[in-house]
Amino acid sequence: MKNILLTGGAGFIGSHVVRRFVKQYPSYQIINLDALTYAGNLENLSDIDQAPNYFFEKINILDTASLQSVFRKYAITDIIHLAAESHVDRSILSPMDFIYTNIVGTVNLLEAARNAWKGNWEDHLFYHISTDEVYGTLGDTGLFTEDTAYSPNSPYSASKASSDHLVRAYGETYGLHYIISNCSNNYGPNQFPEKLIPLFIHNILNEKKLPLYGKGENTRDWLYVLDHAIAIDMLFHSGKIKQTFNIGGFNEWKNADLVSLLCRLMDKKLNRPEGSAEKLIEFVKDRPGHDLRYAIDATKINKDLGWEPSVTFEEGLSETIDWYLQNEAWLKNVTSGEYQKYYEQQYQNRH
Ligand code: NAD
Ligand code: TYD
Repeated sequence: MKNILLTGGAGFIGSHVVRRFVKQYPSYQIINLDALTYAGNLENLSDIDQAPNYFFEKINILDTASLQSVFRKYAITDIIHLAAESHVDRSILSPMDFIYTNIVGTVNLLEAARNAWKGNWEDHLFYHISTDEVYGTLGDTGLFTEDTAYSPNSPYSASKASSDHLVRAYGETYGLHYIISNCSNNYGPNQFPEKLIPLFIHNILNEKKLPLYGKGENTRDWLYVLDHAIAIDMLFHSGKIKQTFNIGGFNEWKNADLVSLLCRLMDKKLNRPEGSAEKLIEFVKDRPGHDLRYAIDATKINKDLGWEPSVTFEEGLSETIDWYLQNEAWLKNVTSGEYQKYYEQQYQNRH
């Protein structure tokens, strides 16, 4: 019997992890704790929110009293911590939100766990979800391994790096059983259209410009979100404690090449003449401190647990586009109101 507190479960990756755990493990209670910021959306979970083993608490991880009462109410046994401010561009516009949620919020959770679990570490796991961006940037060659030194370059990645260090420090200092995983860029259904792939799908649909930063030469290693959810499930159940695991797609794409592929697929699916979407590409002023290249060596999780990505990028991207085309109402809902202000602030003066 496990009562798992899953933070950030209304967001992109969190909602896929919640769904997987609710369905795969009916004997566990899954408590989704989420503040429902602009990125949190309960619509992401409408297919499972009536399940008897699913519970939702609208709580901010900065609210320590409410965190403690949730631990008592559900006798929390384990944590999977995904709640975070997650977008690099927003961290450049307003870094403090990242410092509070990603650093202070994580410490609040660590403290709530320390108070509730009272040194009985063997019975409990604190699983912290992190990012490959903590390692900084690669040149044209090489891969991030679990031993790569941290060298974060954006307020987002620096705040995630801080939270990783704090989780590890609770392991060393108090004995907390933790696992940290550092994953590459995710894509898939339900991703908020501020990140590259859903933003460009949204813009192509609406025949809006596709703002490609710099020369489009930056490279990312893309992983389908359901494969990340499977990796999280495997690590939660069988990962060695007090260790870090890198998760990646073995799937590097230069932004310009990825966007060309996306444009071709979208033209086909929308029955538009070949080349229509590509014409929307506009090279704009680069992101400050823009990391050139991320690429993950995922050998350890493969060797330890046999995990590997299950879908090719072409399959995953095609399914992702189909999801957005079939869920235009979802896309409309999340891009109304506040989103317009963000978009203007982010992309004005970039020409
Ligand atoms: P997201 O922005 O889609 O979702 C974040 C969720 O956290 C939202 O539901 C939001 O409401 C919630 N949240 C934010 N601040 C909160 C607070 N103070 N209290 C409670 N809830 C709060 O993010 P995502 O892309 O799903 O990322 C989830 C996690 O995975 C993050 O920790 C992120 O750093 C990590 N990660 C993301 C990627 C990626 O490509 N998206 C890659 C590697 C790691
Ligand atoms: P993003 O999806 O924001 O993820 P991250 O910054 O965490 O890797 O961006 C992915 C890549 O796409 C990154 O190199 C920045 C680039 N990008 C653009 O060129 N234009 C955009 O409008 C956005 C949002 C991103």
